[in-house]
This record gives sequence, structure tokens and C-alpha cells, in this order.
Amino acid sequence: MITKPKGCYDIYGKEGRYFQKINEVVSMLAEVYHYDFIRTPIFEASELFHRGMGETTDVVKKEMYDFKDKGDRNITLRPEGTAGVVRAYIENKMYGDATQPVKFYYSGTMYRYERPQSGRDRELTQFGLELLGSNDAISDVEIISFGYQVYQLLGLKNVKVKINTLGDTSSRLEYRKVLIDYLKPHIDTFCEDCKARLLENPLRILDCKVDQENPILKDAPKTLDYLNDESKKHFQEVCDGLDILGIPYEIDSTIVRGLDYYNHTVFEFIAKIDGKELAIGAGGRYNGLVSLLGGPETPCVGFASGIGRVALAMQEEQIEVEEDAIDAYLLYVNEDEKKYAIYLAQELRLAGFKVETEYLGRSLKAQFKQADRLHAAFLIILNSEELDNNEVKVKNNHTKEEELVSLDTLIYYLDEQLPNFHEEEEECSCCHHHEEEEE
Ligand code: HAM
Repeated sequence: MITKPKGCYDIYGKEGRYFQKINEVVSMLAEVYHYDFIRTPIFEASELFHRGMGETTDVVKKEMYDFKDKGDRNITLRPEGTAGVVRAYIENKMYGDATQPVKFYYSGTMYRYERPQSGRDRELTQFGLELLGSNDAISDVEIISFGYQVYQLLGLKNVKVKINTLGDTSSRLEYRKVLIDYLKPHIDTFCEDCKARLLENPLRILDCKVDQENPILKDAPKTLDYLNDESKKHFQEVCDGLDILGIPYEIDSTIVRGLDYYNHTVFEFIAKIDGKELAIGAGGRYNGLVSLLGGPETPCVGFASGIGRVALAMQEEQIEVEEDAIDAYLLYVNEDEKKYAIYLAQELRLAGFKVETEYLGRSLKAQFKQADRLHAAFLIILNSEELDNNEVKVKNNHTKEEELVSLDTLIYYLDEQLPNFHEEEEECSCCHHHEEEEE
């Protein structure tokens, strides 16, 4: 048997419904926040990620799906969405458009050669936002609030927002120096990876999973203490904006993010999954990336969220995504009835009803059973004689009452009856609940 590659998943059924629901909420919010959809290639020239995300980052050093194509080009399956969107912004000269900032959202698969575990996949799906061309803190606030609202609308109650600032380039360089000086005398107490990080990427030592408990980290200097006035002001404005929106957040100086392109605001959305804290979304400001990749100086901010992790967080909080019940099931026996079923199923579907019919030529009895299994509200029984009179039999699958309905008025009939059906059904299961509660 051929099996799926390690760290990849077949997503369908209940899990598929989580994915669809999350994407639905994202595209609905993208519409009202006025973010335009963008789809960039799933593979790009390797150089884009090597330059964009930083040679010394874990993602670039260890997790890239790099390969040569048949034309001997160095290609990489995208590990994230930001670099591709920035490339598209530069290549299509969007910086010249009159309507700055440019605001995009996307949803798609990313590839990271990680050690698979719960919430850490090799093929992952992210939705994300990028806002290119504004340096104003109002943009940082909008991105954070979008993420926060997605999780709220999905019903998640226990998501924490953690923010920090790395400051601008000069603050960050100053901080880097101080941090190296502080860590150097103690570096022997850190893991091998961190020893290598000391000069390459010292900020990453602060969020190393292996050295989390190292007491040296407790008293490490904080980025917040090395900000110049400009950087302080920006961070204050972001915090003020979040206060205006009533978004609760925690300032956490250990948030430094794993990718090199960040400066100023960085943030993570944290959920508890299987007792462990996991980032279900993360992002920040990346003012240097457009120019690094060959475009003009363009301040940007963005965020991305792992849809699989959001689904895990929803399951953890017992948020169910129910499948909508079927409105009508069309039953038939002979060929003439079947032809009418083909026609009627389309008519009803185009009128907006969720409709199923018979695909296996089963007996009427088996079709009744199938309709029950699918929780169809109404059974529409096509019978040649009744069809000749322009009528069908409609059975309410809750009250079990049957009625002959004229084909000319069937759509009105269903429109009128469906709310009654759901009301009756709800009341009925309600009494059931009450009984249980009273017990
Ligand atoms: P990131 O922190 O690498 O940032 O990933 C964002 C989110 O993707 C994470 O918080 C997590 O939910 C999810 N994720 C990452 N790796 C995995 C994995 N192996 N398995 C499952 N989920 C994962 C970025 O990707 C940046 N591009 C975010 C950004 C956009 N910054 C600015 N704009």
C-alpha cells in the first residue's frame, strides 16, 4: 500500500469542516477589512527564501524543501507566504499604485521539513495577511485585531495575545550587542544550537525550546530597554490601539520570532493544546524586506496562522462544526421518475436548497433509510402517476406527515415549511435536554 508522506495529512470529514469553517470566517473578515485575495506560486526560486527569511534561521538552515527542477534551477517549496507576496509586490510594481497601502490575504499550503508532532506538520496550511506600504501603528493594530477577531468569531475563548517590539534597525543592533555581551560568559550552559546562534542570531537564544529553563535567560536584557524614541513611540501607539479595541494582550520580552525580517512589533497568538502552549498565529512588522529583495523602501506588517493548529485549538475548546442537515431527499424507483429526479434536484439546488437523491438504484425502503442517515428534513417521493398530475408526495421526516404538493408550488412549500421543521425539531430535542437537566 502506498501511504502519505510523513508529516502530511488527508483532511476530510469533521476535520475538513474545521478547515472550511476557518477559511469561511477568514474570507468574510477579509471582505469587510478590505483585504484583496492573492495566490502566489507554491514553489519559488530558492534564493527568495534564503535571502528573505535569513540564512541563519532554523527554517532556512534545516527545514527547506529544496530541489533542482529539470532545467537545473534551484527551487524551494514555500515554507511561508510573506516572501512570495513581497516578491509579487515588487515584480508587479505594485509600489507604484496610487492606492497604498496594498492589503492582501491568502490561504494555502506551506512546506517545512520539521520533525512531525502534534501541531507541527511538514505540509501545513496557513491563512495570512500582508499590509504593504504603511509605517503607521494603525496598520499593526489592524493586523492584530483581524487575527483576534478570526479566533473570536470561531468561538475560541482561551487565545492569548503576546506582543513585543524589536525596535528599528539601530535599536535592534544596539540590543544585539548588549545581549551577546551578556550571554557570552555563560554560553557553555546552553545547547549546541544556541552556541552557534550566539554570533549568528543571538535573539533566537531567547526563545530556544531546549534552553527555556536556563536561569541565565531570566535576567537577560530586554529589547524594551534598548529602544530609541522613535521605536518607543511606535510600540506605545500599537499598545494604545489595542486598548482602544479592548483587545487583551500581554507584553512578553521573550517573543523574538524565528525569521530574520522582523523589526518593531512582533506578536503571537497562543492557545493551549494537549496542555502545551502553542502559537496558532504569529507575525509582525518587516520594514526591511521589500528593499532587501530589490524593491523600494516599503514598511510592511503581516501575520499568518496555521489552520491545522486553529482546528486543534477549537477541538480543545470543544467547539463543534456541525454539518448542515439536508433539506430534501428525492426518492424514485423507475426510469421516468429518475429522469424527473435529475431535473428536480437541479431546480431545487439552484433555488438554494441542500438536496440529495439516489445514486445506486436501491429499493424504496433502502432509500428511506439512506434519507434518515443523512438527516433529511423532507423526503420528496417521485411517483409516475402523481407526476402525471403535476404533483409529488412530500413527507416531513420529523412529524412523519405526508402531503401531496403541486410541482408549481414546491419551492414555496419548502421555503415555508423548512423553518417550521427546524423549530419543531429543536423544540423536540429541547424537551429531551430539559428532561436530562431535570434528572
Ligand atoms: P511563522 O511563525 O513561521 O510565521 O508561522 C505562522 C504560524 O504558522 C505559526 O504560528 C503556526 O500556527 C503555523 N505553523 C508554522 N509552522 C508550522 C508547522 N510545521 N505545522 C503546523 N503549523 C505551523 C510566518 O510564517 C510568517 N510568514 C508570518 C508573517 C506574515 N509575518 C509577517 N507576515
